[in-house]
Amino acid sequence: MDRFLIHGPCTLSGSVDVSGAKNAVLPLMAATLLSRGVSRIRNVPNLRDTRTMGKVLETLGAQVTREGDSLIIDSSGVVGVEAPYELVKTMRASVYVLGPLLSAMGTAKVSLPGGCAWGPRPIDLHLKGMEMLGAQVELEGGYVVAKRPGSRLRGGTMDFSTSSVGATANVLMAAVLAEGHTVLENAAREPEVAQLAEALVAAGAKIDGIGSTRLSIEGVKEIAPLQVSVIPDRIEAGTFLCAAAILRSKLKVNKVRPAHLGATIDVLQSCGCSFEIASDAIEIDGREADRALNAVTRPFPGFPTDMQAQTMAVATLLEGISVLTETIYPDRFTHVAELRRLGADIRLDGNSAVVKGVAQLSGAPVMATDLRASAALILAGLAAKGETLVDRIYHIDRGYEQIEEKLARLGAKIERIPGPPTP
Ligand code: EPZ
Repeated sequence: MDRFLIHGPCTLSGSVDVSGAKNAVLPLMAATLLSRGVSRIRNVPNLRDTRTMGKVLETLGAQVTREGDSLIIDSSGVVGVEAPYELVKTMRASVYVLGPLLSAMGTAKVSLPGGCAWGPRPIDLHLKGMEMLGAQVELEGGYVVAKRPGSRLRGGTMDFSTSSVGATANVLMAAVLAEGHTVLENAAREPEVAQLAEALVAAGAKIDGIGSTRLSIEGVKEIAPLQVSVIPDRIEAGTFLCAAAILRSKLKVNKVRPAHLGATIDVLQSCGCSFEIASDAIEIDGREADRALNAVTRPFPGFPTDMQAQTMAVATLLEGISVLTETIYPDRFTHVAELRRLGADIRLDGNSAVVKGVAQLSGAPVMATDLRASAALILAGLAAKGETLVDRIYHIDRGYEQIEEKLARLGAKIERIPGPPTP
């Protein structure tokens, strides 16, 4: 099991290119099941999660080929309807095949995702959405078994009780081929959902209200295979902005959509960072980052929960008391104990973390618990005095492409070293 060996503190300089967005490409890959033919998805990051989704599609009978930064997905041979536990347990997003399979194949058998490091992550809204479209949904032996009564699902209206990226995407994909009209209220507005909807429209779907909380879908009989280039990963970009802030460095982050990072930029500006924004690049000057910050996670365009851990790492070295409040996953604080091991002063108070800035962190062995927590530990390790060893970095390989190489090119002292074999 690989680890990262980090020597700190260091400063960074230069520029870094951001990869395609993990959370945009996963639903796009599932959406290729809505047509029969060859889809091409460009700017696909080479990640453990994109490979897992590829395996799910291959299990169903699709052919998935990588050509440079593109994925060619041929769905003409899809006959399967089952997404097996073995794959779904490694990646919750496998549940994205539920809507497309149900709508296109008439049946779907998808393993229920297992537990998560930070508490319950139900899929009840996904299932309610399929039922709203007329499907019969049952749970059997740890699987969701959904059936489409007739030749097509039937349009309807759903008002999501909670804004959910996954449920919005899944129900949207199912509704595209349904008979009649569907309205989704309190739909998620995340850029990844908007990209999915735009790609479906480009393939012949009829969707209005993209980017708003009200999506209106007129069902069509069929759509064409997808041709799409994945948007930049706003969370990877935000992680590099936090690297510049915690390391008091100046950096240029390229191949980004600044509009997707508004709330993250606001929070980093509030602690003293300054920015130069271009159409597809962000230059951050983190040398003056010193004031405490406050952040409350919210659905897009609010401050993303996927930036909470990295921003907490920044707060550990800011003067005064910073408060980070988590409203999306109230228990998403598994990184706190590990940051404390590096000398951070953090107290949990309900769904808030109260961070008292310290003058210096010091290196130590730490353990990654999930994707964004591992990014936070790397940032803190780069700022800490001495050696930090980050264990279980398979978490970070799920969502960051070659992060240690990108950081090393910016001047970080970080290397991937082999660890003891997985138990
Ligand atoms: C997506 O997860 C992202 N994952 C997550 O990023 C991200 O943290 C999350 O959205 C929120 O922004 C992918 O895109 C693959 P949700 P998702 O459904 O779709 C509740 C990362 O680090 N809910 O928007 O699973 C849920 O419990 C990952 O890249 C229900 O109650 O999140 C949560 O409190 C981690 N019932 C809230 O909604 C449901 O059926 C938002 O979850 C579904 C969700």
